[in-house]
Amino acid sequence: MLSISFETSCDETSVAVLDDDKVLSNIISSQSLHNVYGGVIPELASREHLKNISFITDKAIKKAGIKLQQIKLVGATSEPGLIGALFIGLNYAKSIAYSLNSCFIPVNHLHAHIYSTFLNEKKPNFPFIALIISGGHTLLIQVEDYFNHKLLGTTIDDAAGEAFDKVAKMLGFEYPGGPIIDKLATTGNEKFHRFPKPKIKDGKYNFSFSGIKTSVLYYLREINYINDKSNELVSDICASFQYAIIEYLIEVVIKAASDRSISNIVVSGGVSSNSYLRKKFRNLETRGYQIYYPTKIYSTDNAAMVGITAYYKYRYNLGKPKDLEKLFNATARPKSVFSEI
Ligand code: KG4
Ligand code: ZN
Repeated sequence: MLSISFETSCDETSVAVLDDDKVLSNIISSQSLHNVYGGVIPELASREHLKNISFITDKAIKKAGIKLQQIKLVGATSEPGLIGALFIGLNYAKSIAYSLNSCFIPVNHLHAHIYSTFLNEKKPNFPFIALIISGGHTLLIQVEDYFNHKLLGTTIDDAAGEAFDKVAKMLGFEYPGGPIIDKLATTGNEKFHRFPKPKIKDGKYNFSFSGIKTSVLYYLREINYINDKSNELVSDICASFQYAIIEYLIEVVIKAASDRSISNIVVSGGVSSNSYLRKKFRNLETRGYQIYYPTKIYSTDNAAMVGITAYYKYRYNLGKPKDLEKLFNATARPKSVFSEI
């Protein structure tokens, strides 16, 4: 069954075409206009989505080698995200579904990050613990079966990706800073400076990143840091910061997995494309854990993960065809992520 899917929750305009759970095309247009602002400007994001969505859709259909009329299923991110940005993709998708008289399935962006790992040849086995680490969210979820999710923990302040982006900004880099820190850290010394790792509170799996972030700020003040990209000090700071964050993430995930005797672990969301993180989590396999990541291209926001989630919702009868008239009257109103997870 051919499907088309849309992702416009933040600063990526992405459209994918899938045949069941196989990706035929996945076009991603990242909005670089936010880079100089140090973060995403919601109104600019909406306007960019609007400008690009038709073009990206045509490209995705062409690359997949299909005709729009063959599409039987339409999926789109409906929540959570920037309201104006969501609105563009959601209503564009609904219009296509309406014109084709095909099934429309709204998709939770965080569900899509979980099921991005099902785009892999080797799919995760249930039950698993899913760590979602993105620019907007940090969640730990126990997944018993398709769409049977139990929230174990979340961040009490910044998201993991946000911490990367804010530290990168302190170091003088543009948004998004995660990939820059990742790259610079490869030549740095992770033991150069010890940034404090937050403590896990008894029986809880919540996260906090503001302490690490603030300690980087104080450290930079203490050494009168001046941005000089050629300076090996920058690489050492990036490596030390990354070390603290990743050791901490692993500690919380392992606590949850061992408390619940679950050996399958899924790590997804933008930060899961971090090379050091992938290496460190992969090492856990020597301790009997099975680790699953999405392919790097499906770690950061993309429509293929929305497509596979829509397909599973349809296949497992969780996304009954919605009344399109009603959908047109409804506003995309993102609910709290907790309600759906
Ligand atoms: O999942 P995503 O594309 O968007 C959200 O749903 O938020 O995640 C974006 C986040 C940004 O904070 C970005 O800095 C971070 O993922 N990120 C990384 C890397 N690539 C992207 N963080 C660390 N290392 C990376 N290689
Ligand atoms: Zn995301």
